[in-house]
Amino acid sequence: MNVLCSALILSAQKIYLFIFITIGGLFTALARSVTMSYSNHSMGSGSRTARRTFEFGRTHVVRPKGKHQATIVWLHGLGDNGSSWSQLLENLPLPNIKWICPTAPTRPVAVLGGFPCTAWFDVGELSDDGPDDLDGLDASAAHIANLLSTEPADVKLGVGGFSMGAATALYSATCYAQAKYGNNSPYPVNLKAVVGLSGWLPGSRSLRNKIEGSHEAARRAASLPIMLCHGMNDDVVAYNYGERSAHCLSSAGFRYLTFKAYDGLGHYTVPKEMDEVCTWLTARLGLEGCHS
Ligand SMILES: *[C@@H]1O[C@H](CO)[C@@H](O)[C@H](O)[C@H]1NC(C)=O
Repeated sequence: MNVLCSALILSAQKIYLFIFITIGGLFTALARSVTMSYSNHSMGSGSRTARRTFEFGRTHVVRPKGKHQATIVWLHGLGDNGSSWSQLLENLPLPNIKWICPTAPTRPVAVLGGFPCTAWFDVGELSDDGPDDLDGLDASAAHIANLLSTEPADVKLGVGGFSMGAATALYSATCYAQAKYGNNSPYPVNLKAVVGLSGWLPGSRSLRNKIEGSHEAARRAASLPIMLCHGMNDDVVAYNYGERSAHCLSSAGFRYLTFKAYDGLGHYTVPKEMDEVCTWLTARLGLEGCHS
């Protein structure tokens, strides 16, 4: 059986996942999880003692066609993999960006009744009150930071993603602002741009207090450019949820935030949206374009 747990349905503060099951591919789903392994040993001593270890999947890299000015880690949605996005990103008119497209660990996902699926963190019920899988979020944020930490010093760093990947990118933004992960280990990377398509903000309830409690966190939050895009007809991660995440971020102090709503757009991307992402990235990262 191949399980493509691709649709995350949000309705009345609850999410439902549609599981598409076809015969013959479970082995593919499992086989893709072992190329790159990572254990969160580098995260220092936090308050959690029993740590889980996550096996991340294959990482796909799209080399810049022009002068390398920025590197962005791009995160896929639930049940997807890095390869499908690398093909789309390769064709964007952004010759100065190197894209790193990792694949999430295959893990049991609570909302699927524990069925294994590529996921950046575990997700049960998604609501403002819902518990967040901080261990999973921290491990993915650390994996992303590791991928960025070996880039040349003069290259600007960013993170972006779609759906659950967008949620993980936004979580990374909150770690960057606070200069630490949820488990209090230091966050090592200097982010210059964050993009979230059709996603949501994990840990939104406590964010404002955490940022307002520190001048340094407020300063970092205010200076980090974030672009959020959401389809108004999204039947997977509801538009209201994206809008509420944007509001929550800006009221917590992420004031350098662009929110774009797309009339008629569902839980997918369209060229108009990707064009606007390209324009935004080019401006925010000061990219030279083809003239280099
Ligand atoms: C990646 O996901 C796509 C669907 O988005 C699928 O068609 C493809 O087979 C997957 N690749 C791997 C290596 O699992």
